[in-house]
Amino acid sequence: MEIWQEMEYQKEYERCRAMAEDALDRCFQEALPQRRLLEAMRYSLLAGGKRIRPVLALQFCKAACGAAEPALGYACAVEMLHTYSLIHDDLPCMDNDDLRRGKPTCHRAFDEYTAVLAGDALQAAAFAKLAGAEGQSSRSRAAACAVLAEAAGAYGMCGGQQLDMEGEGRPLTAEELDRINTGKTAALLEAACVLGLLAAEVPPEDPRIGAARQYARALGLAFQIQDDILDATAGTEALGKPAGSDAVNGKHTYATLLGLEACVRLVGEQTETARDALEIFGENRSFLDWFSVWMAMRAN
Ligand code: IPE
Ligand code: IPE
Ligand code: MG
Ligand code: MG
Ligand code: MG
Repeated sequence: MEIWQEMEYQKEYERCRAMAEDALDRCFQEALPQRRLLEAMRYSLLAGGKRIRPVLALQFCKAACGAAEPALGYACAVEMLHTYSLIHDDLPCMDNDDLRRGKPTCHRAFDEYTAVLAGDALQAAAFAKLAGAEGQSSRSRAAACAVLAEAAGAYGMCGGQQLDMEGEGRPLTAEELDRINTGKTAALLEAACVLGLLAAEVPPEDPRIGAARQYARALGLAFQIQDDILDATAGTEALGKPAGSDAVNGKHTYATLLGLEACVRLVGEQTETARDALEIFGENRSFLDWFSVWMAMRAN
C-alpha cells in the first residue's frame, strides 16, 4: 500500500476516534449526590482505549450510507458496554488486574463496590443510549437494543466470560477456546458492526448484515488471539494493562495451545477471512479492509 493511503486511513481512524471521545466526554457530568459513581464511570470510560468498537460502528454506517455521523449514539453505546465488561473483567473475583488503559483499574482507583456499580450503570446507560438515539427510526432503535442484548448476555460476552473463568487452571481444546473467544470478544465486535448498519437504516434481512457478522466474527477471533499473544510477549507499559496476566491466572490460550508462531499464522488466516467477507460492500469497503489488517498488526 502507498504510504499516503496508509496515512489517509490513519487520519480517518483518528477522526472517528475523536468523534467518539468527544461524545463520550459529554456523558455523566451531573453534579448529583452519587457523583462518586459518575466519576468512576467517567474515569474508566475516558481513560483512553483504542475505541475499536465505536470506529467499527461508525465505519459500517459510512460504508452503507456514506456518512458516519448517524451511528454516533450507537457507537457510544457499544463503547459503554465494552468499558463495563473491562471494569468487571479486572475485578479481584475475575482477572484481578491492577492496571487498565495505562491507569489503575476502576476498583483500585475507587473501591470494589463502586467498580461493580460503575460497570452495572454503564451497561444500563448503553441501552438507554440505543433506545433514545437521536435521528434513528423506532425500528432501528428496537433492533439495535436486541442486537446489543444478544451480544452482551449469556449467549454472547457474559457466556464467554463464564467459560473463560471456568477454564482457568486446565488446558483447553481449540473448540473450547473458539467458544470462549467468540463469546467474550467477537460477540461485541459483531454487535458494533451490525449497529453501524442499523444506524444507516439497513434492514435486518439485508445481506450486508450477514456479511458484517462474518467479518466481525473472524476479526474477533483474530483480535483475541492477538490479545493473548501480546499478553505473553509485550510489556506492561506498551499494553497499558499487566503483561503476563493470563499465565498468572492459569489461563490457557491459543498461545499456550499452539505456540506463538502458529498463533501469528492463525491471526493472518482469520484476518483474510474477515477481508473476504467485505466483498459485498464493493468500493466502500476500503477502510474496513485496511482496519482489519491494522488490527492484526497492533502492538497494544
Ligand atoms: C480488551 O479490548 C479486551 C478484549 C476483548 C481483548 P481492547 O483491546 O479493545 O481494549 P481497549 O478498549 O483498547 O482498552
Ligand atoms: C476479556 O478478555 C474480554 C472481556 C472483557 C469481555 P481478557 O481478560 O483477555 O481481556 P484483557 O486482556 O484483560 O483486556
Ligand atoms: Mg478476562
Ligand atoms: Mg482480563
Ligand atoms: Mg487478555
